[in-house]
Amino acid sequence: MNLMIQKDYDAMSLEAARLIAAQVRLEPGCVLGLATGSTPIGCYRELIRMNREEGLDFSGVTSVNLDEYIGLSPEHEQSYRSFMEQHLFSGINIQPEETHVPSGVERDPDAEAERYETMIEMLGGVDLQLLGLGPNGHIGFNEPADFFTAETHCVNLSEETIAANQRFFASRDEVPKQAITMGVGQIMNAGRVLLLVNGKHKAEALRDSLLGPITPRCPASILQLHPNLTVICDEEAASLLYE
Ligand code: F6R
Repeated sequence: MNLMIQKDYDAMSLEAARLIAAQVRLEPGCVLGLATGSTPIGCYRELIRMNREEGLDFSGVTSVNLDEYIGLSPEHEQSYRSFMEQHLFSGINIQPEETHVPSGVERDPDAEAERYETMIEMLGGVDLQLLGLGPNGHIGFNEPADFFTAETHCVNLSEETIAANQRFFASRDEVPKQAITMGVGQIMNAGRVLLLVNGKHKAEALRDSLLGPITPRCPASILQLHPNLTVICDEEAASLLYE
């Protein structure tokens, strides 16, 4: 594992963008696994700047997102498709048809999960997977559970995750309770995993993920077994790593 502790959120974001840019420059036809949430916004902002000012070329890149809420249409302002359009896709020259996010509005969400899994396999898997970390240790929407699920699947979001997501919705009732998420199989199959973590409220989750037992009770702990894991965090998130 490669652990890079940065001073703050901006420094973390810059470093993450540099690593992703290196991946894109070395392998212009790569498959990037992308995440939503507040963590990667600064990194995406920097990638947009690099696209505009430094010629970082995304025209050959394919992207696959980790997850999507069940019940939200792509146009819904809180859907993860909208998030990606707003924070990254509209600002770079990636081909729109090469950006993939699970659909949250299929009649049969299990069939959509299966389609998504097959689609990623057809692409040859993910070359670099960007991840954020849930305060409960989730990656994608692989929530704490009794077992790890390898394939893309539908999940009931935990109370903790629903509460954490409430800030984006008018009321708790409007927060989606289910999602489709890539499983830990595709994440672990990725050639490289880049985990970004910032803030004091993630310090325990980061400590448990990197130093605790490997258990589905802390889904990110499985990343300890990944042969090419880079963790970039800020000092606050790292504060419990050296007790
Ligand atoms: C988002 C995702 C989630 C988030 C995690 C952290 O696609 O899969 O696992 O990465 O919930 O969210 P933020 O960054 O908002 O703290």
